[in-house]
Amino acid sequence: MTDRQHSYNNVDVLISTEDICKKVLEVGAQISTDYAGKNVLIIAVLNGSFIFCADLVRILNLKCKVDFISVSSYIDTQTQGRVKVVSGIKEDIIGKDVIIVEDIVDRGFTLDFLIKEISLKKPKSIKTCVFLDKKCAREMEVAVDYNCFKIGNDFVVGYGLDCSGFFRHLPYVGKIKESV
Ligand code: IMP
Ligand code: MG
Repeated sequence: MTDRQHSYNNVDVLISTEDICKKVLEVGAQISTDYAGKNVLIIAVLNGSFIFCADLVRILNLKCKVDFISVSSYIDTQTQGRVKVVSGIKEDIIGKDVIIVEDIVDRGFTLDFLIKEISLKKPKSIKTCVFLDKKCAREMEVAVDYNCFKIGNDFVVGYGLDCSGFFRHLPYVGKIKESV
């Protein structure tokens, strides 16, 4: 990718900052209602969910802790998506009401892996809160309990989501324009 392709000018806005703010507020309020009085542990999936999670937790009217997990995907010989933990959760999970906060669910492998991995540590409950849902790309059925936006099968960037590590800082969700 050239430097020119990394410029703001090369990204079409799909979801505006204003729409993101409104929706995150709505989802945060819903979680606050659903989890009132519970022992909540938010687990943010790095790197992509860092902005979404930061905005979401500041809305929550709950007693909660926040921890992080870093995972990476790789392709194995059967070309199925595989996921491994790069950096794990430090907080105790036993008996906690866990909410996994993820940037996007695409084929579903990452979230499926995370739910299974975290379930092994005996939480009281697990739910998922996903900023973007690319439902049409799903290969693995996975439960999305809270979701801000459903999108089509476009590759998107911004609000934490990257392309080769770039564009995470954009305050909106966009699509990189086709190069001319
Ligand atoms: P899945 O395992 O196929 O559901 O992939 C989920 C992961 O792929 C996400 O956590 C993202 O890191 C990455 N990903 C999927 N689609 C996009 C996209 O459109 N933009 C940026 N990252 C994406
Ligand atoms: Mg991710």
